[in-house]
Order: sequence, then C-alpha cells, then structure tokens
Amino acid sequence: MQETGEWNNHVELAKWADAFIIAPATANTLTKMANGYCDNLLLATYLSAECPIFFAPAMDLDMYTHPTTTANITTLLSYGNQELPAGTGELASGLEGKGRMCEPEEITRLLAHHLELSTSLTGKTILVNAGPTFEKIDPVRFIGNYSSGKMGKAIANSLAKRGASVHLVLGPIDKGGVHSSVQVTNIESADDLYEACTSIFKECDAAILSAAVADYKPAVRANQKIKKTAEEFTLELVKTKDVLRTLGASKTNEQILVGFALETQNEYENAVTKLEKKNLDFIVLNSMNDKHAGFGKDTNKVTLIERSGKKHTFDTKLKTAVAEDIVNLLSTYL
Ligand code: CTP
Repeated sequence: MQETGEWNNHVELAKWADAFIIAPATANTLTKMANGYCDNLLLATYLSAECPIFFAPAMDLDMYTHPTTTANITTLLSYGNQELPAGTGELASGLEGKGRMCEPEEITRLLAHHLELSTSLTGKTILVNAGPTFEKIDPVRFIGNYSSGKMGKAIANSLAKRGASVHLVLGPIDKGGVHSSVQVTNIESADDLYEACTSIFKECDAAILSAAVADYKPAVRANQKIKKTAEEFTLELVKTKDVLRTLGASKTNEQILVGFALETQNEYENAVTKLEKKNLDFIVLNSMNDKHAGFGKDTNKVTLIERSGKKHTFDTKLKTAVAEDIVNLLSTYL
C-alpha cells in the first residue's frame, strides 16, 4: 500500500464491513495475523474487525506445508476466522502442488453460503451456559474444576454468527473471545447458575448447557478463614441443584434442550441414561478417554446422540468446528 501521509481510518473500515475477505493471504500475512502484528492498513483493519473474517492462503507448496504455516492457520481458526482452503495446481513458481489461492468463484460461493447461514437463526433466543462453578468453603478457598469454558463460548459464538439472540451464563472465567452481540451473565456458584438459567430459559427457544457444574457444595460456608488446628479435617458437602434436569422438567414441547455428558466409562450407556433422565432432545457425549478432548484443550471429539437413538460421530476437531456441528444439529430442530 502506498504511503500517502494521510491517516487511513482502519476502525471505520472494519466497522463498516459485513464480511472481510483476505485473499490472497500470503505466508507473511498469516504469520502477522496470527501474532497480532499491526504494521499496515490490512492488519490494522483485521485487528479492529468484528465481522466474519475469511482468509485464503496462497503461497508456494513448501511454504504451505511448513509447520509454521500450519500452526498459524490453526491459530487463526481458533480465533473464529474462517479459511477459504487453498487448492492444488500450478503455482506462481511454476511448480505444481497445494498452495493455489481458492478460486474466486469458490470464494463467492462460500461467502454466499455464509451470508445465507448468518440469518438462519434470526429471531431465535438461545441460552448457553459454560465454564466451571466455584463453591466457596471460606472467604479464601473454594471447590472448583478445570473447565475452561472454551466449548460453550464457541457454541455461543456460532449461534450469534447465525443471527440468534444469545444469553451466555458464564462461570468464573474471563469472557474474552465472546462475540460482541452475546449477552453475558457472570456467575460464580452452582446456585447462581441455577438462578440465572431458570429465569432466562423461560424466554428461550432452546438451551445448550455445557457448564461443568459442581455436583456438591460445602454444607456450611465459613464466614472467616478456617484455621489449621486439628490433625484431620472433614468437610461436609451437600448436593447442588441439577440445572439441566430442572429445565428438562419444565420445558415446553416447543423448547429444545441440549446437554453434555462427560464420561470416563460406559460412555454411550451413561450418556443415553442422562438424555432420558434429564428429558433432553439430544446430548453431546465427550469422552475423557480421548487425549485430544477435555478440559482446557482447543480440540474435542464428540458424539451427538438424539432421543430417537440416532448417533452422529465426529473426528477430533477444533472446538470452534465442534460448535458448528452441534449448532447444525440444533438448527434442524428449530
Ligand atoms: N448439570 C447441571 N447441573 C448440575 C450438574 C450437571 O446442569 N448440578 C448438567 C451439565 O451442564 C451437563 C449435564 O448436566 O450438561 C451432565 O453433566 P455431567 O457432569 O456429565 O453429569 P451429572 O449429571 O453431574 O452426573 P455424574 O456426575 O454422576 O456423571
């Protein structure tokens, strides 16, 4: 881009666009995008954009298969950007291979598909919950779990991108990375989660509950820090309320309810039992036995099980892609 000495308003450009296509996205641009560089108008606009962003890698074949490029593309996808996949054929170097920019006709087709999808859930109000809960023991200690909330945030973002009005009830974690249109309610404990979800669900067409809710909380919360005195210390715990089960018992025939099952054994049987007991339309089974799935990871491997018994099994994918699979199935119900 030629330096004119004029200040180019990247913020205005970024806010103006309904979609942003970066084609060709060279190896250099992908590296800069993945690392937050901001040394030209394109990158400044990219960093300011809130609209859907599409990038079309284009480079020579060895550059394309270099681990740095692969890692950059993975990073950009995990930030919610969408790839316009490179094709195979003649390259600028004269060599043949993968790295050719996605054909312009294909880019137009993918964009049209995206725009069609972007209004597919307009008018629908959907509740999502995500993250852990913290159950206070005393003013300085709690019982918690390792949930990062990444899966639930990705689901909320996918729903928002399709035009749904999304309420995200989020455990005590950072709300970074959540689409700006999503209404976030931060909670801390299982009791807070119960209050927020039972109240919001009444107005919703569907709910996807992915939060890792504590099953037990301390029977008594000490007002002062518990001092170290006796050799042994026993903490009495009582059951928390099951949010998903409560929503399942109260839901109307028109409301769609989706739950998660985190299992370490008899996965399928346990998931089906949860689906029935909690009156769900479908359940997302994720196995703790899969090394690419689970708390804190960027990838997940899930099976979606419908009430009819129909099973949809997927390969390990980025959580953003898993969210698309879950939202695709939900969309068939709405
Ligand atoms: N869930 C909930 N409220 C709770 C516990 C769980 O809403 N108090 C929801 C979770 O958000 C998830 C589903 O129930 O969607 C299943 O959670 P999971 O931990 O797999 O199962 P539990 O019902 O807690 O049963 P168990 O721990 O015995 O497997």
